[in-house]
This record gives sequence, C-alpha cells and structure tokens, in this order.
Amino acid sequence: MVNLNSADHNYKSLENIYHRYIKLPFEFVEPDWKDVRRTFSEEQKKGSEYYDIKEKGDTDVYFCHTPENDEKVTEFLDKFNLFYDSKLVFYTKANEEIKVHIDNNKEEIYSKKVDNFIDNHAKLNITWEPNGGKLRWWDLKNDKDLKVDTHTTPLGKTWNVIWANQNECDMVYEKEINKPSIVNTGRPHSTYNPSKEGRLTLSYNLVKKNNLELLSFFEALWLFGDLLSE
Ligand SMILES: [Fe+2]
Repeated sequence: MVNLNSADHNYKSLENIYHRYIKLPFEFVEPDWKDVRRTFSEEQKKGSEYYDIKEKGDTDVYFCHTPENDEKVTEFLDKFNLFYDSKLVFYTKANEEIKVHIDNNKEEIYSKKVDNFIDNHAKLNITWEPNGGKLRWWDLKNDKDLKVDTHTTPLGKTWNVIWANQNECDMVYEKEINKPSIVNTGRPHSTYNPSKEGRLTLSYNLVKKNNLELLSFFEALWLFGDLLSE
C-alpha cells in the first residue's frame, strides 16, 4: 500500500505500465486560450458531479484548434499505421486537480460495446508542466467503485465520464509529463498541480488504422520501441 502522505515516494520498484516519454521529430506549439473552447453538456447546466465549471479557464476538459500541431501528429502517427480520433485539452488550475477518472474514448460508432472501462488504452500527451505538477495513477480498492456519468451535447451526442473517489483508490505511480509522452489513460488517473500556474495538456487518442481499435499501452511499447524512455 502506498502512503499518500509523503511527497517523495520511490515508485521505481513498481512496474511502470503507466507512462513513457516519446522522442518526436517535431515540437508542439502551446495552445493559445483564444483557440480553446468548452466541452459543454446539457448536464452541466444543472451542475453535474464531475464537471461543473463556470467559465473558460476552470479545471476541465476543452476542445482546441491547433492545426499546426495536428498536422505533425497526423504525419507521425501515419508512419505507425495509427490515427487520432479525439484531441482534447485538459486544464488544471493552480492548486487544483482533475479528480481520479478513466478516459473512455469508446463513443465513436466503430468502437466496440464497452464491457470494461479499465482497458489500458494509450494517448499521446504533451503537458506544459508547472512546478511540481504531475499525472498520477491509481488502483481502485474495488472496481465496483467506478462511477459513470453520462453527458449529452446540445445536439444529442452522449459521452460517459468514468470516475472514482480518491479515498477509494491507492496511488501506484506519478510522473512529470514535461515532454511528449505515451500515457496509459485506460487506468484510473488524476492530475496534480500544487503550483501557482495552470497546468495544460494537449492529448491525442490513438487508434489503429487496420482494425479501428484503440491502441493499448502495451502495443505502444512494442510499436514505438526505441523512441520511448522512462
Ligand atoms: Fe484523463
């Protein structure tokens, strides 16, 4: 069991099935807030348990227009017979966190029915990491403690937000994501930002072209090979 009260645990003894840095042939341009917009759902009008923001700049998930980054990512992924089907910005305000959740990414029509949210699927992330900022991974004490909220866009498309209470989880890994990274977003994770600045992540969901299945973290280890490092 990990002691959550100490700031400098040594997780090196644990197997890292959560994160690798990836060497890319290009650099990301930091998104500008003028190109960011809210992922607003009908449920947010009432105030849902998970997402309940008042304005742009609050801790939440956003859409973002960054064609200069997207073109380079598309070109890179193409070499590995991959594409991205969703690109989002995750923002954590100073001294806040995005609470423990699992990215779903199975809303597209080609995705299979969801039978297990903990699916180890991987994303390509870059974070403009503030001082002390981290991504943290958690194991649920009981998988039944996962909560599922459904959100609906004004046009009727739905998506699920899968989350858990932190006190029902044990932390298993944490990492500064200050360089391009492959992250396992199919396991419970949260953001941590003890700094006075915002923490912004640009995140691409990875899909295999040959069968339209999400790329798993383990497949990413094999596919990207020497480009990866701990
Ligand atoms: Fe996430």
